[in-house]
Amino acid sequence: MPLARTGDLVAEAAAKRTAVAAFNVITLEHVEAVIAGAEAATSPVVLQVSENAVKFRHGRLLPLARAAATAAGAAAVPVALHLDHVKQDALLRQAADAGFSSVMYDAAHLPYRQNLAATRAVADWAHTQGLWIEAELGEVGGKGGRPPLDAHAPGARTHPEEARRFVAESGVDALAVAIGSSHAMTTRTAALDHHLLGLLDRGLNVPLVLHGSSGVPDDELAAAVGGGIAKVNIGTALNIAMTGAIRTHLADHPDGVDPRAYLTEGRRAMADAVTRLIGVLAPTV
Ligand code: G3H
Ligand code: ZN
Repeated sequence: MPLARTGDLVAEAAAKRTAVAAFNVITLEHVEAVIAGAEAATSPVVLQVSENAVKFRHGRLLPLARAAATAAGAAAVPVALHLDHVKQDALLRQAADAGFSSVMYDAAHLPYRQNLAATRAVADWAHTQGLWIEAELGEVGGKGGRPPLDAHAPGARTHPEEARRFVAESGVDALAVAIGSSHAMTTRTAALDHHLLGLLDRGLNVPLVLHGSSGVPDDELAAAVGGGIAKVNIGTALNIAMTGAIRTHLADHPDGVDPRAYLTEGRRAMADAVTRLIGVLAPTV
């Protein structure tokens, strides 16, 4: 089926008070696993390519983007492409031509006024390209290998009134909020601030996005979706599944050399994780 659009998938999820899962993909195996996992769950899904993943691919977006678009076009469920955590203008400007219907512009590390000014300029430009634009206010910690922010650090939580002004003045289509999750956690121990989420949900007229969701336990994820989160970004959970399965396979087959043998196991483990997580975010009963 043709590529879906992120904005449509998020709007459909929000209307049902569920969330669309957005998985970060690094390799072709990630792409195939996310699609297989979403097909098994018979649910739409978003494939995300982050600026860091592009850096890993020597700064080239198109090899992975073209593969993702081709695989998405052959999927049995709606699949959209999203460019994630973009800071570089040059990358941003490739989004639409490379098949992405949405971009997350990340200026959350900047002071409020600079974040707003930069985000507003990007949102204005993105809308001329037909791109749905997500931004972040308050900083979800743990980016780029840095330690999680202390819960009381400035910016570690999104301020509801500031967020209301930021959305109104920037013109973004969705907002990533800092409510207690942190990027790249390998334990599922994050505790979310559901009171704050309630204030944000009631105060804002755009869908809310949860980042750093790998560290959030299932019951907290489900509660966040019930509380107004409509897009859930997941990356590390897939890497944990992939690496764990490959590690086990190589331990069991110390003489094996064919990458297809262990990549099959890694891809299967990621697909299983995708199906399971989609079930938490958008139960089918
Ligand atoms: O934008 C990507 C996500 O926030 C992924 O975070 O790797 O901690 O799940 P995670
Ligand atoms: Zn993120």
